[in-house]
Amino acid sequence: MPRWPAAPGRSMENEASSQRRAGRNARATPDPKKRADSPEGSGARATTSLVRRRIAAELDELRRDRLYRWLDCPPGIPLSSNDYLGLARDPRLVAETARAIREGGRVGSGGSRLLAGNAPEWERAEAEFAALAGTEAALYFSSGYLANEGLLAALARPGDLVFSDSSNHASLIDGLRLSRARKLIYPHGDMGWLEAALARHQDEACAKLIVTESLFSMEGDFAPLARLVALAREYGAEVVLDEAHSVGVWGPEGRGLAAEAGVAGELLAVVHTCGKALASAGAFVCSSRAVADYLVNRARTFIFSTAAPPYLAAQIRAALRLARAMDAERAHLHVTAARLRDGLRAEGFDLGASCSQIVPILAGTPETALAWAESLREDGFAVRAIRPPTVPEGSSRLRVSVTATLGEDEIDRLLEACLRARNRAASRA
Ligand SMILES: Cc1ncc(COP(=O)(O)O)c(C=O)c1O
Repeated sequence: MPRWPAAPGRSMENEASSQRRAGRNARATPDPKKRADSPEGSGARATTSLVRRRIAAELDELRRDRLYRWLDCPPGIPLSSNDYLGLARDPRLVAETARAIREGGRVGSGGSRLLAGNAPEWERAEAEFAALAGTEAALYFSSGYLANEGLLAALARPGDLVFSDSSNHASLIDGLRLSRARKLIYPHGDMGWLEAALARHQDEACAKLIVTESLFSMEGDFAPLARLVALAREYGAEVVLDEAHSVGVWGPEGRGLAAEAGVAGELLAVVHTCGKALASAGAFVCSSRAVADYLVNRARTFIFSTAAPPYLAAQIRAALRLARAMDAERAHLHVTAARLRDGLRAEGFDLGASCSQIVPILAGTPETALAWAESLREDGFAVRAIRPPTVPEGSSRLRVSVTATLGEDEIDRLLEACLRARNRAASRA
């Protein structure tokens, strides 16, 4: 449930329209929907504390800058879902999960993996993900965010050097922050810059890590994995790879881009998440046995968190089994995603370097991105405007996730709706 201030039925669109109507004076407008438990609306205190005033001021600022976010369940054909293979509603997966709950005997894990929460189901799932990634071992974390954060915070130390792509996901960035290692952020995908930086620091004896996504979640383009691994080899660095958006979708049997590039055996660790194409939750860090054992002892997001319930392991294993066999769905997805990209580019839309099922449609300002999202929603498509700080200033966008359940006719209708969105926004400006 939205906590505040989304009134029932409030949508991104009517927020965008009301902000447009209110103009940039929205900051000064008192909000009639303030709830009693809202930061500045509490009647329980005679004076307002600094923390509460700061929260209220920051929320006002976000609204003024069109960067305010709220929870919503937008109706329409979903274009923001990472359920790339359409497995989330697949009756086979639903039945497998129901069976695992019915027959499993327990639905709660009872504690962290190191206490009461371990289960043979998790060990089986880990063995299957190690086989998928071609590594000795795998360790499950209850979200991709926690996997990345725990992994990097455990691997890197103050004094180490970490080379990190500028478009990396927040979970990778936060793991590096926690590690307190020195960070060198290289411009997105710029291997020349990376090589020069590695060369500049080659005489330093510290540990060196290169951290990247394989398919970038906001750009829809690929990291040049073969080149990156060659550079790591040449300069004595290790590579940590996040395959969140490629597992299930890219590579042989959906085993990811490292498998496709033939570099899986050269990585220090590769993260396969289960919440996207695998329609489940959590993530596996796939690595050598030594790295997995180290994480069991040192990754705080693994150690100090209650294990996920065993039935989820059964769901993930079933999803993986199904996903590996979905070559036809993958082929369809790649064809429809290419149809959308080609069609949009032919009409002059800027999609950056997207070459995958993730299709960012660059709008520029948050206001334009919100207006395009509103127009698409009027045409029956549910898509979210992505704005800073998720993406850099000036690059607000719609992020369209093409999924295997979309047909070519829907792609064509979407193309027309995008054109209408651009025209409508231009005529309202
Ligand atoms: C590239 C990338 N890595 C990691 C994550 C985090 O995964 P999870 O949603 O399982 O926490 C995400 C989530 O959006 C992501 O896009």
